[in-house]
Amino acid sequence: MSRLAYVNGRYVRHADAAVHIEDRGYQFGDGVYEVCEIRDRAIIDLDLHLDRLDRSLSELRIVMPMSRAALTAVLREVARENRVRDGLVYIQVTRGVARRDHYFPVPAPRPALVVTARSLDRRKGEAAANEGIAVITRPDERWARVDIKTTGLLPNVLAKQAAREAGAREAWLVDRDGYVTEGGSTNAWIVTADGALVTRPAERGILRGITRTVLLKAAEAAGLRVEERPFTVAEAKAAREAFVTAASTIVMPVVRIDDAPVGAGRPGPFALSLRGGFHEHAQHTPI
Ligand code: PDD
Repeated sequence: MSRLAYVNGRYVRHADAAVHIEDRGYQFGDGVYEVCEIRDRAIIDLDLHLDRLDRSLSELRIVMPMSRAALTAVLREVARENRVRDGLVYIQVTRGVARRDHYFPVPAPRPALVVTARSLDRRKGEAAANEGIAVITRPDERWARVDIKTTGLLPNVLAKQAAREAGAREAWLVDRDGYVTEGGSTNAWIVTADGALVTRPAERGILRGITRTVLLKAAEAAGLRVEERPFTVAEAKAAREAFVTAASTIVMPVVRIDDAPVGAGRPGPFALSLRGGFHEHAQHTPI
């Protein structure tokens, strides 16, 4: 079966899907995106992702080219047509096509909208979670507005590639004061010796992850103690547990930070039980 994508109003074969060479997303990274999990043929936390998409767009003064209802129909269609049971749906909106010039084009072009979906093997995710992943630490060299989910991800790409070359899955980015901001494509968490969940407050220094938001609610419902505060690399290395969250990984235990094992060097009970219970707290929109 050939894959299908949605590009600017049309459903096209994935292999033939293309945007113009002067799309501002291509030339300037002038666009935003969202990634939602699909699980058991349902889009997870769609409303929260679309709320964040609206916020990212308004921060960049890009006007969404279709209504939320129409976009939801496209997402469901692309997911269904690609027969995704478990996987991801990707939404990208750029400022559109215009002669290359840094200023916003006048009149504003129609923003370019792309939607793709792909399957993921859930067993592989479970196997990774049962093993836990390694992370390395890298300086956070990104711009100051990482709260906007833009396609300008070069520092994230370089940090994650460095992680891969070091035999790790993720890079934890570290600010000038030695505090972890977040992962290259995930939010970062630790569990302290006395059992508190710690994650950095979602100010401008990190992306306010949807998985993070929902997990905070789940943790509260479970009566866990949560501290939204920055933590250092040293504190993370001495923590009882560590994990990362994202739509693409849900809760993924971290068992090594640089060369230091975290806790017993195995996924811990906090991470595994939060992972196991996550979807009970999530919104499910059937595709
Ligand atoms: N990344 N921080 C960064 C820098 C991210 O890129 C992401 C998501 C997150 C977690 O956000 P959420 O829980 O809403 O997925 C945090 C997506 C999955 C990606 O770029 O593929």
